[in-house]
Amino acid sequence: MRASGISGLPRRFPIATPRAMTHPERPHRNFYGRIRGKTLKKSQKAYLSEDLAPLSPGAVDWDENPEREPLDLDALFGGKPVWLEVGFGGGEHLVHQAASNPETGIIGAEPYINGVAMLLGKIRRAGVENLAIHPGDARDLMDVLPDNSIARAFLLYPDPWPKTRHHRRRFVTQEHLEPLARVLQPGAIFRVATDIADYVRQTLEEVPKAGFEWLAERPQDWRVAWDDWIPTRYEQKALREGRVPHYLTFRKI
Ligand SMILES: C[S@@+](CC[C@H](N)C(=O)[O-])C[C@H]1O[C@@H](n2cnc3c(N)ncnc32)[C@H](O)[C@@H]1O
Repeated sequence: MRASGISGLPRRFPIATPRAMTHPERPHRNFYGRIRGKTLKKSQKAYLSEDLAPLSPGAVDWDENPEREPLDLDALFGGKPVWLEVGFGGGEHLVHQAASNPETGIIGAEPYINGVAMLLGKIRRAGVENLAIHPGDARDLMDVLPDNSIARAFLLYPDPWPKTRHHRRRFVTQEHLEPLARVLQPGAIFRVATDIADYVRQTLEEVPKAGFEWLAERPQDWRVAWDDWIPTRYEQKALREGRVPHYLTFRKI
């Protein structure tokens, strides 16, 4: 494993390397979010250097997999149904779902290394074994997921990008939704949670265009959290600040 080039990280931290970023076939993909925050604690650096590589879903980055060969999910999870969480933040929902659903395998994608480190601490404490982690952009992961391979997907409090000129950065754009639709099985459930009214608007406009139907009544409405829900860090902050969660459920047609 090559050095990451990010100071303070263990040398073996496997995020996209400069060579991967410049692979001639690699599509140009801007990522506008943060990939690092406060200095990592010693324990978090240890989690990253010891635990992350064994949780790899396989060859995702362009330097490892320039042909974009699909991942072997049956080998990864022994034929279990596979779920996907995009942008898991600190990983509380991801670990909760993994612990509640041992009969599934769940892949999480998150480029923010402090969040990845937080997740790894939670995995150690919960002892869950049905997770795989891509510490990077979900678009790179979706490139190498087989067609119709994912049974459920979660997009929980995606970055809101409130300014109108930044709406095209939102995850609910066709650049992200078309590959998501390709990898989801027909009938798969796609959950979106957001506290931003205009994000609801864009989600309800864009997700159906990519081949999903909104389950508006499912069986409650958008104001009621899913039965198996656990509030994420971002949701707790939104509630403290008086914003209203919206829980949208879609089904892949
Ligand atoms: C507002 S935070 C919410 C985190 C978490 N889901 C929660 O509810 O607490 C949005 C997260 O999405 C991640 N993110 C943004 N774009 C992404 C992408 N293309 N692939 C994977 N994660 C992404 C960000 O790094 C950030 O951690």
